[in-house]
Amino acid sequence: MTESQAQSRINELTEKINYYNYRYYQDSISEISDYDFDVLLEELTGLEKQFPQFLQPDSPTQRVGGTITKNFASVKHKYPMLSLGNSYSEEEIKDFDTRIRRLIDHEFEYVCELKFDGVALSLTYKNGVLERAVTRGDGVQGDDITANARTIRSIPLKIYGDNIPAEFEVRGEVFMPWKVFEQLNQMREDIGEALMANPRNAASGTLKLQDSTEVAKRQLDCYIYYLLGENLPYQTHSQSMEQLTKWGFQVSPTYRVCKTIEEVMDYIHYWDTERFNLPLGTDGIVLKVNAFEVQQELGFTAKSPRWAIAYKYKALAAATPLESVSYQVGRTGAVTPVANLKAVLLAGTTVRRASLHNANEIARLDIHEGDTLFIEKGGEIIPKVTGVDLTKRNEGSAPVQFPTTCPACNTALVRIPGEAAYYCPNELECPPQIRGRIEHFIQRKAMNMDSLGEGKIELLYDKGLVHSPADLYKLSYNQLFGLEKVITNPDTGEVRRVSFKQKTVENMLTSIEKSKAVPFDRVLFALGIRYVGATVAAKLAAYFGNIDAIYQATVEQLMQAPEIGGKIAESIARFFAEPRNVEYIQQLKEAGVQMQMEMRELVMESNALEGKSFVISGVFVHFDRDVLKDKIIANGGKVLSGVSGKLDYLLAGENMGPSKLEKAEKLGVKIISEQDFLTMIGETAG
Ligand code: IVH
Repeated sequence: MTESQAQSRINELTEKINYYNYRYYQDSISEISDYDFDVLLEELTGLEKQFPQFLQPDSPTQRVGGTITKNFASVKHKYPMLSLGNSYSEEEIKDFDTRIRRLIDHEFEYVCELKFDGVALSLTYKNGVLERAVTRGDGVQGDDITANARTIRSIPLKIYGDNIPAEFEVRGEVFMPWKVFEQLNQMREDIGEALMANPRNAASGTLKLQDSTEVAKRQLDCYIYYLLGENLPYQTHSQSMEQLTKWGFQVSPTYRVCKTIEEVMDYIHYWDTERFNLPLGTDGIVLKVNAFEVQQELGFTAKSPRWAIAYKYKALAAATPLESVSYQVGRTGAVTPVANLKAVLLAGTTVRRASLHNANEIARLDIHEGDTLFIEKGGEIIPKVTGVDLTKRNEGSAPVQFPTTCPACNTALVRIPGEAAYYCPNELECPPQIRGRIEHFIQRKAMNMDSLGEGKIELLYDKGLVHSPADLYKLSYNQLFGLEKVITNPDTGEVRRVSFKQKTVENMLTSIEKSKAVPFDRVLFALGIRYVGATVAAKLAAYFGNIDAIYQATVEQLMQAPEIGGKIAESIARFFAEPRNVEYIQQLKEAGVQMQMEMRELVMESNALEGKSFVISGVFVHFDRDVLKDKIIANGGKVLSGVSGKLDYLLAGENMGPSKLEKAEKLGVKIISEQDFLTMIGETAG
């Protein structure tokens, strides 16, 4: 293919795929099968790799990231990004309305919108193509984060439709939906990383990641709420929102045109409770004058438009005395301060505790012993401490001091540079770290010992029966039967007696026994190696096949596995460098836990294919792909996943992607049929 052929094919494919995407997301119509779509996308990806100079800014391949930005360039906004005046009471909204009616002597309408809790973003389109995405920054200039914004699927890379201006800007709010936020935190917990405080921080941190592939994984979303440009033909804000929707932008359908202030109040009241059913956080509403002409008459102050105002919902708040601060030690040794509060009713639930996150947060809030704290409940389930009622501070009270030694084992705490948390380094002997590791081990996603939850581990540990997850496999009926302990739930104050009766013990032993069949990838996750979450464990298990291969691998070899970076590889090496961990794995092996991927029994048939590599693609008549794969290996060959110059044979079935075929032809790879293959190994079909 010549350069100019490649360029025109790249343009054609980019255009085509964007169009199908637009039809799919905008009109819910699939004009092409998933398979054909993937073939086009694969062809484009291949061509862009070969001819990177022709990659288009609106290329759909950018959705999955791939760009690394070391420093985000600072860009001046064409139109400054102003903020909104805030109001906290219905009175203030009525005053706003009165003020405007005094200035405008004719009828006008408002638009009410929700105030989305995320990060403001400005998007510039030229000739219908997304050219630049810039954060708000200080309002005058922000950071160019275009590569990251391109991974957000609801942001169109190219727009379709009528009346598209040569250049325009839209603004919107990038957010992380609750569900994604919760998954992200769950994943961070799995690998022992500090949790994100809220979806807004998570969204803003994600937009500033240097690797756009990571951004793509975070599933950010975006609502557009503003259109700007020169000589645009729209009279009202609501008209421009309708046009944006038609062009393929995601505008939240929650906005309403309101003729009177009563209608505005109805909107406020309706969403006061309804907002909790939305997939994202909202902290108020935005009231905007609808007609652009009236907006112009009203103009701007230095900081914000006179034609719009935000109304913030009252956070559900309370003030209550701090009784003490306890320090919880997690599985990885991170110490989290928790405020123990005098019980107080907030939004229908009794609150007794609130996380203070880390030492910096205690210092930021300047909490003293015995202070009365303000606590709030937003969309989040967990209440947060927002400040101190200084009028109630006891004279001479001392600031809360973060401990210098571990509250559980007395070891001096350490801080890892760049991290907010303090850690207890006594990994092997610190009781909460040991219990945390066992709890991680038994959870459903790991060894799935469901009948060992709810305080049982604490009891087993306290009685000296388990010190490591491997000890679970040594437990016997006689050791367990009759054990008892009274346990207090720190959140509810509820007291419960855990006692091991016949049925409980039988269930426990059965689920321990069953866990021996849990596949190796989940065992690897269960070990609780830092940064090895469920996905990473699955990748490692598939690549290395068994625990010994992982144990013997050097950091460099570990990094050869797909998606394993230096941080993960070093953490694995550190884990295996500890003799007690090696011993622990040996004990698990002896107990019969799966330490290798289950393989189909492969009997070597010949060495006819020795030193030869194969890629299998398409659908076959006589054998399915797994059987062909086994046959290649059983005859001494290797199976690869991608076509490259090093490949010997492409084993081509029916309906295989044309791009693979083309690539193989170009690289001079031999293309063989199922029949050719069988001849090579001296077999005949059927
Ligand atoms: S309009 C000139 N509409 O609130 C005013 N802003 O304090 C342009 N926000 O920076 C903003 N939802 O990040 C507007 N429906 C909405 C909004 C909204 C959230 C945020 C935005 C802005 C801040 C203003």
